[in-house]
This record gives sequence, structure tokens and C-alpha cells, in this order.
Amino acid sequence: SIKGFIFDLDGVVTDTAEYHYQAWKRLADELGIPFTREENEALRGIPRRESLLMLLKGRTYPETTLDELMERKNRYYLEYIRAISPRDLLPGARELLQEIRAAGLKAALGSASKNAREVIERLGIADLFDAIADGYSVTRQKPAPDLFLHAAALLGLPPTECAVVEDATAGVEAALAGGFTVIGIGPHERVGRAHLVLPSLAGVSLSKLLEQLSVSA
Ligand code: G6P
Ligand code: MG
Repeated sequence: SIKGFIFDLDGVVTDTAEYHYQAWKRLADELGIPFTREENEALRGIPRRESLLMLLKGRTYPETTLDELMERKNRYYLEYIRAISPRDLLPGARELLQEIRAAGLKAALGSASKNAREVIERLGIADLFDAIADGYSVTRQKPAPDLFLHAAALLGLPPTECAVVEDATAGVEAALAGGFTVIGIGPHERVGRAHLVLPSLAGVSLSKLLEQLSVSA
């Protein structure tokens, strides 16, 4: 049975996907590269470097320039997330985390972002997590299962006793590869391979969730 939950951050707990988009867009504009909101959708859950390479669409730059571009994007991103507050929590996220804690179950963060700690602190939910796996935790990123396996290990639970909550295709694949139960948040086109697909965490109660998982997983 499920004893722990591992939450992706961007797009599950808060909508930082918008800030990532604005930061990448600003960089793309400066480079004279077209970049749309729709193209940004494909970058959900994709680490910083791979995101940059996708944005560059085959244009090549020396390694030092790539580093500078990544730093620049991150500077913009940090600028945008300075404004994040508890109001930016997506509906239902805090309530579910609190229910998980109250029920004596465990919660971990499993985000590819190097800014994950800063974001959960600004959201005011850092103390609701028993463990944090972030962009510094592992080398192989989603869709490899490493980050979620690391989070489960920090919780002291096997993957079979953890449910991963994800909004990105790469994240759903990572969780499936690790043998986790997977809850997909968002449209079927993106997270349809998850065991359970929900439009959002709004109004999702722990008891109902555990019941739905036991029939669908
Ligand atoms: C998450 C986001 C991605 C982002 C990645 C790395 O997976 O969904 O959009 O590129 O984290 O984030 P970072 O803050 O380290 O650049
Ligand atoms: Mg995400």
C-alpha cells in the first residue's frame, strides 16, 4: 500500500512553468530565436541544459557560451520567482500535503530544478516535506528514474510504496521506469500513461486518492 508521496514541483505544486517560459522567451528574444508558449510546453520537466539545446533548435555555440546562456536564463528566472508567495500555490496542493502528514504518511519533493528549495520556501510549504530531491541530487535526469528513486530512498520507502505526482511526460516516464504508482496531473496527451490522471489537485482528498489508486494501479 502507499506510504509516501513524491511531488514534482513545477506544474504540480505551483505554476512556475509560466516563469520558466518568460525567462526562456526573454533569452530567445535576445538571441533572435522564435520561441512560443506552445514550444515551451515541450520543456516541462526538462533540465536546464536540454531545454536550452531545444530552444537553440540546432544552432551551435561554444560550451562557454552555453554556460553563459544558461546562467542568464536562470538570472531572469530568479528575478521572476522573487515575487512568489503562498498565493502561488496551486489549488489543493497544501491541503493534500497537510492531509498526508496528518495521516502519518510521508511526502518528498522530486524536482529537476536547482531552484526547488527556494521556491518551496517562498511558497511557505518547505516544512511539509520529509525529504527533498532536486536538481542537485542526481546526475541522470527524468525520464531516468534516478531522482524519484533517490527521493524514495530518502523517505526510507521502496518505490512500490510510493506514489509520484507529475505533470510532465518525462516525469511520468521516470516514475513508471522506477516502478512507482503514478498520478498524472493535466491532459491525457501529456500524462495519459499515468495510473491515475487528474485535471489538478483541487478538491483531491487523501482518502479518495488512496481509494482511486488501489483500484487503478
Ligand atoms: C523543472 C521544470 C523545467 C526546468 C527544470 C530545471 O523540471 O519543469 O522547466 O527546466 O526543472 O530547472 P532549473 O530551475 O534548475 O533551471
Ligand atoms: Mg513539472
